Amino acid sequence: MSLFSDRLNHASIVDGVVLSRAEHVRYRHNDMEHLRTLLKKYRDRRRKLIVTDAVFSMDGDKAHLRELVALKQEFGAMLMVDEAHSGGIYGRCGEGLSYDLGLQDQVDIHMGTFSKSFGVYGAYICGSRTLIRWLVNHARPLIYSTALPPSIVTGISKALELVISDHWRRERLLEVSRLFRSLLSDSGFITGDGDSPIVPLIVGDNETAMRFSLALEEQGIAAVAIRPPSVPDGTARIRFSLSAVHSDKELIDAAYYIRTIGHQIGVL
Ligand SMILES: Cc1ncc(COP(=O)(O)O)c(C=O)c1O
Repeated sequence: MSLFSDRLNHASIVDGVVLSRAEHVRYRHNDMEHLRTLLKKYRDRRRKLIVTDAVFSMDGDKAHLRELVALKQEFGAMLMVDEAHSGGIYGRCGEGLSYDLGLQDQVDIHMGTFSKSFGVYGAYICGSRTLIRWLVNHARPLIYSTALPPSIVTGISKALELVISDHWRRERLLEVSRLFRSLLSDSGFITGDGDSPIVPLIVGDNETAMRFSLALEEQGIAAVAIRPPSVPDGTARIRFSLSAVHSDKELIDAAYYIRTIGHQIGVL
């Protein structure tokens, strides 16, 4: 098996690849031409799996799922999508980005977590009956770990009900994401290419990111500094995560403090 993995995929995917002992082929972030070149180079491999985050955890930008589906079809590969940061948010009932784009049947392995928008813990994998049977019988981390406790499973069931029925939360979340991102980028901050509820504010060096995060904390704004190796060298950042219950006023006030701190520590 050869695994083709986006360079900015989450660490858990990288660990999974290592644990699988499959051949690890990394392509440049969201660079479909690079992936095509690599798929061509390894085209003789009998089994190929492309794996990607749907929404990238440190940048908040989206995978190019349509292009990935086209490439998987062209090269006879399978496609696995990690919907950790898109489950609950995209799709008619929060099914994820693949569903939002109508590509659900083209994705061979869907996975996601219940720890982000669902607000609980645990994770899921969906795929063919054969795949699920194979995982249940062969996936060592699953077989040799204690199952989720009933209280957590009950919490997940309730969260699923809310996610499926409360469409307003999804709409509001995307609305606040747009507002907050534009408040920051209009102030001159670098916020990357995304449009999701993960909003990075790239500052560059580690020390500035730490000072920024501490100054925010003093103003009652919780946003952690993310540094290498979680992100590439020289791209330390503050990562904001938005919620459907943030009010416009809270975000406008937060943007004011962020701007003030940005000036004070020389990011702006
Ligand atoms: C893309 C992605 N996949 C998987 C995970 C792991 O999720 P959990 O913390 O629920 O194990 C994360 C967590 O940050 C993530 O961002």
